[in-house]
Amino acid sequence: MSAYLDNAATSWPKPETVYQAVEHFMREVGGTPGRGGHRREEEAAHIADQARAVIAELFHAPDPNGVAFTLNATQAINMALKGLLQPGDHVITSSIEHNAMWRPLKALDRRGVAVAAVRCAPDGTLDPAEVEAAIRPETRLIAMLHASNVLGTILPVTEIGALSRRRGIPFLVDAAQTAGAYPMDMQAMNIDLLAFPGHKGLFGPPGTGGLIVRPGIVLETWIEGGSGTESEPETMPEALPLRLEAGTQNAAGVAGLLAGVRFVLEQGVEKIRHHEMTLTALLIDSLRGAPGLKILGPAGLSQRTAVVSVIIEGFVPDQLAAVLDQVFDIATRAGLHCAPQAHHTAGTLESGALRFSPGYFNTADEIREAAEALASVL
Ligand SMILES: Cc1ncc(COP(=O)(O)O)c(C=O)c1O
Repeated sequence: MSAYLDNAATSWPKPETVYQAVEHFMREVGGTPGRGGHRREEEAAHIADQARAVIAELFHAPDPNGVAFTLNATQAINMALKGLLQPGDHVITSSIEHNAMWRPLKALDRRGVAVAAVRCAPDGTLDPAEVEAAIRPETRLIAMLHASNVLGTILPVTEIGALSRRRGIPFLVDAAQTAGAYPMDMQAMNIDLLAFPGHKGLFGPPGTGGLIVRPGIVLETWIEGGSGTESEPETMPEALPLRLEAGTQNAAGVAGLLAGVRFVLEQGVEKIRHHEMTLTALLIDSLRGAPGLKILGPAGLSQRTAVVSVIIEGFVPDQLAAVLDQVFDIATRAGLHCAPQAHHTAGTLESGALRFSPGYFNTADEIREAAEALASVL
């Protein structure tokens, strides 16, 4: 018995083509995009450009040059928040954010940016009218996650995007739990800034991610340095993506990410979602009977991603996760999941929870075995 059910942290395994692309890059390509002008540099730049193109296709982004690579979603969110918000500005977020959003917002709060967290219900659901009611004349940004990594809840991003467009306020979405796993359309959803991890639903290696910036949004730089071209000026270039990509990039990771996004496009996001939600439904059904077990998050599957967190009366989540790992080789995640705000909203800040997050490569048998393993531990 063995199952990896921690795909909300990072996906594993990866498609075979991702391993091959990273190895091919390391052994055969070398080079760093936009630096040398020789054959290897051109090949690396070509790979990075292809990756921007498939990412723009997947998210229906207005311009592939707006895709700036980062090491993870956290960097992308920081880049957007700190590039846009100034002291005196007001920003609206939700009450179920990951620390990747919450901590930079609190850091900005200490520098004079007012942060309003609109309260979600204990199951994570959010009424877009509450977001609209929180808007002030000085609101400069609406910034929130697309889906909770604790509750699985999908927030009404389309409705919030529509109101942010109507009110002329930029909209930043943290797509850490939805990129590759749930259909997203930056233009139809009126998303101005989209932060994504490369290493979760896009199947890229660790150390990949990015921020997609809509043309017309100008971000202050958060790090400055070499851009490969346009070296003469003492400031970073204006044009994207160069403006946001200082220093040598994770080019081998981007080569793997290109293969991962191609895999997503070939399979189709709908098919990936269908498989993951079939497993999620099976997991919920298989767990439900356990005495004292409560499943967090919304009741309806259509409002959920493939994240199932549970609390069980009389048991400590960390201990359950340790036994599942050590005795059954089943990888889950226990504790606060870097999201104390979400646990506070759900009423589980004291206890934490045990999280199962199935992915595209899991099977129904693995889900049944995981539920049986938990039942036997209980
Ligand atoms: C909702 C959410 N936002 C942000 C992050 C941070 O992603 P990364 O690890 O790529 O920085 C995560 C990671 O679990 C997440 O679940």
